[in-house]
Amino acid sequence: MTRLAIIGTGYVGLTTGACFAHLGHEVVCADIDERKVERLQRGEIPIVEHRLDELVAEGLRKGNLSFVVGAAEAVKDCEIAFLCVPTPQGEDGSADLSYVETAAREIASLLPYEAIVVNKSTVPVGSTKVVERVLKRPDVRVVSNPEFLREGSAVDDFLRPDRVVVGCDDRSAAIAVGNLYDKVRAQIIVTDPASAETIKYAANAFLATKLSFINAIAAVCEGVGADVNDVVVGMGYDKRIGSEFLRPGPGWGGSCFPKDSRALLKIANEAGYRFDLLAGVITVNDEQFDRVTDKIRVAAGGSLEGKTVAVWGLTFKARTDDLRDSPSISIINRLLAAGATVQAFDPTVDAPKPGVPAGVAVCADAYDATKDADVLTVLTEWDDFRWLDPKVVAANMPGRTVVDGRNLLERAAWNHAGFTHLGIGR
Ligand code: UGA
Repeated sequence: MTRLAIIGTGYVGLTTGACFAHLGHEVVCADIDERKVERLQRGEIPIVEHRLDELVAEGLRKGNLSFVVGAAEAVKDCEIAFLCVPTPQGEDGSADLSYVETAAREIASLLPYEAIVVNKSTVPVGSTKVVERVLKRPDVRVVSNPEFLREGSAVDDFLRPDRVVVGCDDRSAAIAVGNLYDKVRAQIIVTDPASAETIKYAANAFLATKLSFINAIAAVCEGVGADVNDVVVGMGYDKRIGSEFLRPGPGWGGSCFPKDSRALLKIANEAGYRFDLLAGVITVNDEQFDRVTDKIRVAAGGSLEGKTVAVWGLTFKARTDDLRDSPSISIINRLLAAGATVQAFDPTVDAPKPGVPAGVAVCADAYDATKDADVLTVLTEWDDFRWLDPKVVAANMPGRTVVDGRNLLERAAWNHAGFTHLGIGR
C-alpha cells in the first residue's frame, strides 16, 4: 500500500484515484473546484464514465479514498503525487503547460522528503525536466507515466491495460511507480522520460492515422462501389493490421486526438522534422466533416437553406457525455452555417449546455428530433439508436433519407420503412 496524492479530478485524475484506491492504495484526490470536491465527497460523479461511481463509492466506504480542495492539502503525507491536470491546446497548437507548472509550484515546498512526482497529463516531450526545474527539489524524482484511457471504458483500461509506461532516469523511482500496478497484469515498459512522453503522442497519432486512413478508404469505396465494412473485415484478419480502430465514421474528435495530433506536429516541427504525414491525417479528418455535411446537403435536395435536419448523437463518441471537439458538433456548425435548422437528440444531453451550438433545438427524445425533418443523420454510435423503429420515424418526417455517419443502423429495416440509407463507404 502506498500513500498517493492525485492532483486534478478530471476524467484521468478521478479514474486514476478511484482505480488506485481499488487496488488497495491510500489515495487523496485534490481539485481546485470546491463544489466538485463537495460532490465527490458525497460520492457524486460529475462525468458519465462506466463503473467510476462504483469504485468511488467503494473507496469512500473503505476509507482509502478521499477528496480535498487544493493540491497542498493532498500532498503533505504522500509518497507519490500524480499530476493529472489539463494540458489544453495553446494558441499556436502546442500543449499549454501552465496548469502543470502551477500545480508543481504549489506542491514544491510541501512534498515530503524524497517523494516522487508523476506526470500523467499528456505533456510535450521534455516536460518531466520542466517539472523538475519548477520543483527545485533535488530529493524529489519526477517520473512520466502517461495514461492510455479511453473515455467510456477508462476504468477497464486502467485495471486491464495493454501496457504501463514508466519514464524515469532514476531506476528506484521507476520501480516504485511500476510497483503501484502490482495487482494489474500488464507489461511494464521502463524507459527514459522523453521516450515515455513520445510513446503517448505516437500512440494517439498512430490511432488517428488509422482512422483517417479508413475514412479515406471509405471515400474510395464510395467511388468504386465497394463496401468499406467488408474491406475492414478483410484487412483486419491480417494480424499486422488488426481490426480495431478501423470503424469509419464522421471523423475523429474528443479531448485528446485533435489536441495531441496538433501538439505532435508542433513538437516535430520544433525538433526540425516536417511531419507531412500527420498534417495529412488532420486534413483528411477536417475534410471528413465536409464530406458528411455534403451527404446531408445532397439528401436535402442540394441545398440546406431552410431545411430541417434531425441529428442523433452529439457527444464525440458513445458512452460519454463529453462534447469536446465532437465531430457531431463540427458537422452541426456546418449545417447551421448553410442555413439549416437542427433538431438534435443525445442520451446524455437533455438540455442546451456549453458545447452545443446556439440555435440547436435539443430534444428529449430521439423520435421528437425527427418531427418534420427533411433529413435524419446519425453522428454518434449510441447503441440505443439501432433499436429505434424506422416506421415511427417515417410517420414523423417528410424526408426519406437517413445519412448514417456511423454505419450503425440496419440498412434493410430502414429501406423497408421507405428510407434511402446512406452510410460511410458503402
Ligand atoms: C483516446 C485514446 O484512444 C486513448 O488511448 C488515450 O488515452 C486518450 O485518447 C487520451 O489521450 O487521453 P478517447 O479520446 O477517449 O481516447 O477516444 P477514442 O475511443 O480513442 O475515440 C476517439 C475518436 O475516434 C472518437 O471520435 C471516436 O468516435 C473515433 N473512432 C474511434 C472512430 O471513428 N472509429 C473507431 O474505430 C474508433
